[in-house]
Formats: sequence, C-alpha cells, structure tokens
Amino acid sequence: MVKWDDRYNTEEYVFGTESNEFIARIQPYLPKSGKALDLATGEGRNGIFLAQNGLETEGVDISKVGLEKAEKLARQKNVSFTTRLDNILEMDMKENYYSVITSVFCHFAEPERTKVMQKIVNALIPNGLFAGVFYHPEQIHYGTGGPKDPAMLGTLSEMQQALSGLEWVIAEETLREINEGFLHNGTSSVIYLLGRKL
Ligand SMILES: C[S@@+](CC[C@H](N)C(=O)[O-])C[C@H]1O[C@@H](n2cnc3c(N)ncnc32)[C@H](O)[C@@H]1O
Repeated sequence: MVKWDDRYNTEEYVFGTESNEFIARIQPYLPKSGKALDLATGEGRNGIFLAQNGLETEGVDISKVGLEKAEKLARQKNVSFTTRLDNILEMDMKENYYSVITSVFCHFAEPERTKVMQKIVNALIPNGLFAGVFYHPEQIHYGTGGPKDPAMLGTLSEMQQALSGLEWVIAEETLREINEGFLHNGTSSVIYLLGRKL
C-alpha cells in the first residue's frame, strides 16, 4: 500500500471536499467546455470542481484509495468525473489534447519536475490553461504541510522556467492561511500559477 493510500484510508476527506482556494479563484478563466486533467487528484476535490464547471475531466493519482473516494464524491455531487490510477512520472499524456490541466500540491525534484512540467505544456491545446499550486522552498520553515525535502520545492522562477511555453496570467509567490484538513494547516508559503499555452 502506498503512503497516500494509508493517509486516505479514513472516512473523512483529508483535504476536504471543496476545491483549493486558487482553483476556485481561476473559475472565471475556465472555458465552458473541453477536456481537463487534474494531476495528483487525490480524493478528487479539484478535478470534481472542474467537472462541475462543464469540463470533461479525468483525475489521475497513484493512490487507489484516494481515487475510490474521488469517485464517491463525484457521485455525491452528481457530476461525471473519470479517474485513472497511474504514476505521473511514467504515464502517457496525450499531446495537444487538454483545454485545462491542474496540479495542486504535487511536487517532484529535478530532473523529474521539468520533465513532468514539459509534458503538461505539450499536452495542452493552444490557448489551453495550466493552473498549478505548489509549496515554495520557504515552506520548509513553516512546517504547515508539504514535503520535508527542499529539493522537491522550486522557487517561482524555477517553476516558471520548468513550465516554459506558457504565458503567465497569474504568477504569485505568497503567504496564505491554508486550512485544508490536518495535513495542510496554518500559514503557508505557496506558489500560484495560471499559464496559457502560447
Ligand atoms: C498533497 S496530496 C494533494 C492531493 C490533491 N491534489 C488535493 O489538492 O486535494 C498529493 C497527491 O499526489 C499524489 N501523487 C504523488 N506522487 C504521485 C505520482 N508520481 N503519480 C501520481 N500521483 C502522485 C498522491 O497520491 C497524493 O494524492
């Protein structure tokens, strides 16, 4: 059983059932239809938000337990949402295919980080959107969530560089009070990115 299966193995939704605040914030930018991919969807809250907004959405995660909870949440919210059990580091992403890709609190060290981010850029259609939420390296000092290994965290400019090929609609490094269940709790140093494929 993977680490995340253990964490999700509880009745409650570890990060809640509402989308992350940044994903809610980008709602006005979302197209009314099209295909969407939520990477590291976990228990599904962000992918389901995209589906509720009219996008044909697939959520990918390595945790079977998380995906089962995501499917249950989609049924409860009466929305069509597809799940895929896969490893982001190894999976195929169809090129030139998605109108929207999201990734919330999923971190990789280099060189995997740039490889995954470039797969995302290639997978978007022209004008397609990528919304990313990442912990900033400063988050190590706050200890309110996220990886303990600083190599897994990029600065704003490192994340933007890894995602080259996008033009930036929002690119922020900010301190936020994040309260999304017991794993993400308190003042947090985060990066918010919304990019459009050129
Ligand atoms: C901090 S949780 C965030 C979950 C979700 N994005 C949210 O905001 O509620 C990180 C997620 O990344 C997933 N994950 C980590 N590495 C992965 C990989 N290589 N492939 C697929 N999923 C992965 C974990 O299983 C976990 O669900």
